[in-house]
Amino acid sequence: MTVDLADVQGLFARGYGDLRAAAFLLLGIEDATAARRWLGDAAGAITGAAVRPEERALNLAFTRSGLGRLGLPADALSMFSNEFVAGMTTPHRTRILGDFEENAPERWNWGSPSGPQIDLALLLYARDGAGLHLLEEEQTRGLAAGGLALRHRLGTSDLDDFEPFGSRDGISQPFVEGLSKTGPPETTVRVGEFLLGYPNEYGLYTARPLLDASTDPRRMLPRDPEGSGRADLGRNGSYLVLRQLGQDVPGFWRYVDGATQRPDGSSDPPARLRLAAKMVGRWPSGAPLTLAPDADDPSLADANDFGYHELDPRGARCPVGSHIRRSNPRDSLDPRPGSSRSWEVNRRHRILRRGREYGTSLTIEQALAGGDTTERGLHFICLNANIQRQFEFISQTWLNNPKFDRLYDDADPIVAPSSPHGGTFTIPTEGVRKRVAGIPRFVSVHGGAYFFLPGLAALRYLAAIETAPGPRAAPLGVFAR
Ligand code: HEM
Repeated sequence: MTVDLADVQGLFARGYGDLRAAAFLLLGIEDATAARRWLGDAAGAITGAAVRPEERALNLAFTRSGLGRLGLPADALSMFSNEFVAGMTTPHRTRILGDFEENAPERWNWGSPSGPQIDLALLLYARDGAGLHLLEEEQTRGLAAGGLALRHRLGTSDLDDFEPFGSRDGISQPFVEGLSKTGPPETTVRVGEFLLGYPNEYGLYTARPLLDASTDPRRMLPRDPEGSGRADLGRNGSYLVLRQLGQDVPGFWRYVDGATQRPDGSSDPPARLRLAAKMVGRWPSGAPLTLAPDADDPSLADANDFGYHELDPRGARCPVGSHIRRSNPRDSLDPRPGSSRSWEVNRRHRILRRGREYGTSLTIEQALAGGDTTERGLHFICLNANIQRQFEFISQTWLNNPKFDRLYDDADPIVAPSSPHGGTFTIPTEGVRKRVAGIPRFVSVHGGAYFFLPGLAALRYLAAIETAPGPRAAPLGVFAR
């Protein structure tokens, strides 16, 4: 399958790892006409996926309200997926994602239903802090004239590829058909799982906005590859999930330290590190417990070519309830764990993770000493073509589900909201299995929204929408210009 990389935003192909500095600007549209003009200019500066940028990158994504405010008519909006149209904060989604109590959307810093509307996210990346400063200055200068207001800025920090709890992050990604990095067939996912307008793992095209061709007389959009003749507004676009996840680093290490203390009440650093690794499923270097069960082995830091069924069916090496085993169970899924059928099911629930950390890092000792008041965490970002079957399924059925894979009271020990009595985590060993209990909540949600990351042709098309004149311009759905 050939992917039209020249029309795809770069974030699909890469996380811009060499561009160490990043900031995400969450914007609201105040004047639709000015915003479309701004978008027309900005579209030319958006980084595509065909070339690897060396200095800076700029990507752009819209919420449903953003597309509506730009003037996309209601019938076109209704063809986007339900999850995107309804947004992340409906009561149903709140249950699926575990966003209740302290995590309730009403308490978020941004993206809450009662807060200022977020219409678009401008994602800025640069080689270093100075480069980012310059890029951000250039971009913010034009916002007011472009009818846009800055609602919230999400800064990030370069923690050398470690997340704030201290594990290396950003190691495991699916191979995607059509991209240059190739891998074994069982872990190579069809491009339609991430981009709209291509066949997915079911051999089908994911539902997407297909517009009447008359709304695109200048043929700005690609035509439906399935041959309906309609204009494909979705093609080369993806759904982008953004969640600000705060991490309580002192709380995490206090808990892990307490759970591994010696009978005399003193800390046991090796046992502490082992429990943290069991919870994640990888050692701090990144080495997977499945391949390095007894001690960290930095030579395996990038290792990702493994399954669970043959080496570790019961989880004696990497617990079934660990974060990486439940967020990607690989070949442990029914039916027939270890078979190609198991991998096939797994390929329907993958995401491309593109998050960035924020806040400063703390050593374990600093964390145990109480840390500081700095906020730290992960701006979790992932791309997928079907939010419900990918991001939401992973969250609900795998991470937050206490009955995951024959467990009965264990949700994800790192990221799941804890139950009132605290979470439990089962550690199978060769002999009796151990359980730790009373796990508090380490990760809290401070904001979130579902976005659409359009293809570049679609961006230009959105900039060219024409609406009825007048102060309360009603979208007409006529796009000729
Ligand atoms: C603050 C919250 C989180 C932290 C600290 C965290 C941390 C980690 C770490 C350390 C890894 C292993 C390194 C790697 O493979 O890249 C990992 C892997 C992963 N995480 Fe998370 N994560 C968080 C939230 C989430 C969420 C919300 C999801 C999905 C809804 C998720 C999905 C995944 C997936 C799919 C993998 C790869 C597993 C694999 O393929 O083996 N994570 N995470």
